[in-house]
Amino acid sequence: MAEPTPAPSAPAPTRAGSPSLKDGGTVVPVREILWGSAAGAHKYETAEELEPEMAKLIVKLMVVQADTEFASIQQHRPWLDSAPTLEDRWIESRIVADEARHGLQACRILRDFGEEGQRYIDELLAKREGEHKLDAFNMKFDTWADVGAFTCFVDRVGVYQLRAFQECSYGPLARAMPLMLSEEQLHLNFGASVLRRMVQDGAKYTGSKEEAQGAIQKWYPRALDMFGHSNSATSRRAIEFGLKRWTNEEARARYVQEVSALTAKMGLELPPDGFDRRVL
Ligand SMILES: [Fe+2]
Ligand SMILES: [Fe+2]
Repeated sequence: MAEPTPAPSAPAPTRAGSPSLKDGGTVVPVREILWGSAAGAHKYETAEELEPEMAKLIVKLMVVQADTEFASIQQHRPWLDSAPTLEDRWIESRIVADEARHGLQACRILRDFGEEGQRYIDELLAKREGEHKLDAFNMKFDTWADVGAFTCFVDRVGVYQLRAFQECSYGPLARAMPLMLSEEQLHLNFGASVLRRMVQDGAKYTGSKEEAQGAIQKWYPRALDMFGHSNSATSRRAIEFGLKRWTNEEARARYVQEVSALTAKMGLELPPDGFDRRVL
């Protein structure tokens, strides 16, 4: 298999004067494919234009995406009217509304794939708690600290996955990213603020530093697993197709760097590398 084009840290558009991507920054929408084997060509705009392997990969990616969105609604649901403060309840309801919209957005892309796409949507809507693809989405939020750690760590992985699709080669997917990313940013900030308040204010807010730390032990390994296997051929194919900017291990390494600094700032600790991991 050919080596993937090293787009992430040093995007290398093939055409002179092409706009470049800046990590985490705002990007100007562009019509051409910025990386991968078709770099420089026009982006794909319809399912019909895609070669079968690429179409299959987009469907697979969107099914996983939508599954996580719908699952997290089920996980948040019990906290809509039992979060500790009025503001927390309001943000919980915003998060649930956002995740429903993200699920809808992923399903709209699936609809473009005809009967097969619709069949996946029907399956997604029938899934109950415990039936989802990724382990992080089959676990319950037993405590409020779970809500904080999930939104801070698991939603943040979601953001890395979405950023990897920014300005990707499939136009309908690329155009869905800016709004989804701005909504996810609220979820991350909220999660960090829940953990910070637990550490700083303890029972005056709710929970304790120990509870916050316990929730990190529970969710951080599942968050790292979400990036997928380090030697995934699928993730390399996704880069060649211009769909993703990073391999699984590149994205995971960036994430670890970010959350290490963030966790230390909150006065909390990350478990050691490899702790309770299932997907390596
Ligand atoms: Fe989401
Ligand atoms: Fe989210």
